Amino acid sequence: MSEARPRVWIDGTLYADAADATVPADDHGLVAGDGVFETLKIEPWGAFAIGRHVRRLENSAKVLGLPTPEESAVREGIAAVLAGRDFEFGRLRITWTGGIGPLSSNAAYGPPRLIVAAGPAARTSEPGRIVTVPWTRNPDDPLSGIKTTSYAGNVRALAYAHDHGAGEALFCNTRGQVCEASGSNIFLVFGDRVITPTLAAGPLAGITRACVIEQSGAVEEDIDLAAAQRADEVFLTGSLRDVHPIVAWDEHSYPVGPVTAAIAEEFARRSVDEPDPA
Ligand SMILES: Cc1ncc(COP(=O)(O)O)c(C=O)c1O
Repeated sequence: MSEARPRVWIDGTLYADAADATVPADDHGLVAGDGVFETLKIEPWGAFAIGRHVRRLENSAKVLGLPTPEESAVREGIAAVLAGRDFEFGRLRITWTGGIGPLSSNAAYGPPRLIVAAGPAARTSEPGRIVTVPWTRNPDDPLSGIKTTSYAGNVRALAYAHDHGAGEALFCNTRGQVCEASGSNIFLVFGDRVITPTLAAGPLAGITRACVIEQSGAVEEDIDLAAAQRADEVFLTGSLRDVHPIVAWDEHSYPVGPVTAAIAEEFARRSVDEPDPA
C-alpha cells in the first residue's frame, strides 16, 4: 500500500516534486541510523505542538551527540510544506541527520541535514486492537526513549501486530513491565484511577502522553503485563491517533469506557484552544 508523495523541504529548499528531494547515499542517517526525528499531526489550523516537538528533537539530538537544529529553521520548513497544502489532516515529519559521514559507525562529518515533509493521513476513527510482541524494550539501552531514525524494530513489531489481526504492537520491557507501543504510549484505567508507565520503564516521552497527564490527573506508575491486562479501560496516545480507545489486547476485551471518552474529549478541546502548548 503506497501513500501520496509528501511535500518536502530540505535545508531551505522546497521541492515541487518529492522525487527530486533526495539525500546522498552516504548521509549518516541512512548509513547508520544516525539521526533523530519527530512526527506531528497536521490539522486544518496547522501543526500541533511545534514547540514541544522541537524541544524533544533537540533533546534526542543531544543524546545522539549531534548538534541541535535551529528552531527558526524548523519552523521555516514547517511553514513551507504547509503553505498551499491540499489536505486537511495529515502527518508532518521533521528529520535531522548527522549529514555526510563514513560508511561505518564513526561519527558523521556533517553538517547535519534538516528535512521537513508533510502529507495527508487518515484520522483514526475506530477503536483499536493491540497485541503484545515477543520482543522487549531495554530501559538501560543508551538510546532508550529517544526518537532516532533507527526505527526498524518498530517496523518489524508493527508488521507482527498486523499479521496477528491488530493495529498496534505493545512492548513490555526487559523487567516484565508494560512499556509502550510501536508508535504510541499506553494508559490503563482502573476505576477512576488512570496510570501510564514511568519514563524509567523506557517509553518515549510522548507529547500526547504529557498533555493527557497534565489534563487528566493520570499518574505515572509501572505495572506488569498480567496486572495491566486486568484494567477496566485501555487507551493509546500518539500524535496521529490522539486518545485512541483499545477494545482488544491479546485475548482480553475492553469497552470504550466513560473515562477514556472524557479524556479524549478534553484532549480534542484543548488542542484546538492551545495548538502550541508551552
Ligand atoms: C515509540 C513511540 N512511543 C510513543 C509515541 C507517541 O508520542 P507522541 O505523542 O509524541 O506522538 C511515538 C510517536 O511516534 C513513538 O514513536
